[in-house]
Amino acid sequence: MKKSTKESGLLARRSSATQGSRPQLSIIGVGRLGTALGLALKDTGYEIEVVVAKHSASARRAARLAGTDTLWLTSRQLGRLNSREYNRLDRSQLILIATPDDAIAMVARQLAALFKSQKPRPRPANNAFSDCRIAIHVSGALSSEALQPLRSGGFAIASLHPLVSISDAFSDAKVFRQVFFCIEGDASAARVARSIVRDLGGKSLTIAPTSKALYHAAAVLASGHMLALFDMALEMLRHCGLSPRRARQALLPLVKSTLANLSANEPAQALTGSFARGDIETIKRHLEAMKSQNLREALAAYILLGRRSLSLAEDHSGKHAVDEIARILSRTGKASVNR
Ligand SMILES: NC(=O)c1ccc[n+]([C@@H]2O[C@H](COP(=O)([O-])OP(=O)(O)OC[C@H]3O[C@@H](n4cnc5c(N)ncnc54)[C@H](OP(=O)(O)O)[C@@H]3O)[C@@H](O)[C@H]2O)c1
Repeated sequence: MKKSTKESGLLARRSSATQGSRPQLSIIGVGRLGTALGLALKDTGYEIEVVVAKHSASARRAARLAGTDTLWLTSRQLGRLNSREYNRLDRSQLILIATPDDAIAMVARQLAALFKSQKPRPRPANNAFSDCRIAIHVSGALSSEALQPLRSGGFAIASLHPLVSISDAFSDAKVFRQVFFCIEGDASAARVARSIVRDLGGKSLTIAPTSKALYHAAAVLASGHMLALFDMALEMLRHCGLSPRRARQALLPLVKSTLANLSANEPAQALTGSFARGDIETIKRHLEAMKSQNLREALAAYILLGRRSLSLAEDHSGKHAVDEIARILSRTGKASVNR
């Protein structure tokens, strides 16, 4: 397969990166996050022993970037390793699982069965990294309990979720700097997870395992759903005659300035626009415009988020304006449901 320019650049840069001072690592699931995380860790000196993906092309591509000596396997091969392949996996002090969430429990069972059926390799006595094997998954929604079969097999387990959006497996290692990573799990595995975060220049936060689904829903709202909202705004500008490209170009500086305001202030202070000013007539015009174009999803989102904007604006919009806008939103919301 022909290498992209970005991939060739990464190969050249990473071949001169620090080598050898960090633990050996294997990664199961080398898609967007698994590859980006693996390569960033490699930059700080981790050695990548084995990479596994569902398809051979993904695994091969990740191995090519990870190191001249990295072994690649498909998930099917993982179920029937020869002794050379098993030894490579067994040498890893750390196994990172970055498959889709729904595959994590199955991978944990697969690995547990694999290690159970083989004699354990004695750990070096001077192993400063950890005195047992560590398995960590990177899902935001699942707790470390998803790796329970591995704990029964003598692993310490944790989850390590970066609050960052990686849409490109070839992302620069810098993408993890200053990023918060949510960590929970067994003490020794959580310690290893925190040292990974330090190596990447990130920051750690901890939540209870029972809160992970809610925590992840918050992340989806702030990131993925923000894009869904943006896409609705693009649709509205298409109705105004702008091409999708032009509409994106036009809206991006607005979004960036909003994020800059948010970096400096709490949401209530960062809020600008019709709701912050209490512009009753303008808000009526917005609602009418969306109704007239039959933009039902946008109208529903506008009303829902408008209520929240209104509560943010309460302190600096007059009470009359806030009450009146709340009534208008409610009336329009009911009317659009009944249509
Ligand atoms: N992307 C992000 O921004 C982000 C951020 C934070 C956390 N995460 C977490 O990272 C994990 C992966 O997300 P992603 O976005 O990187 O997904 P992705 O790009 O779809 O990558 C998933 C990888 O897992 C491989 N895979 C699928 N089933 C497998 C199996 N049974 N055994 C081994 N490998 C398997 C896929 O192989 P093929 O390539 O061959 O299909 C692919 O390489 C998820 O838990 C997600 O919650 C992602």
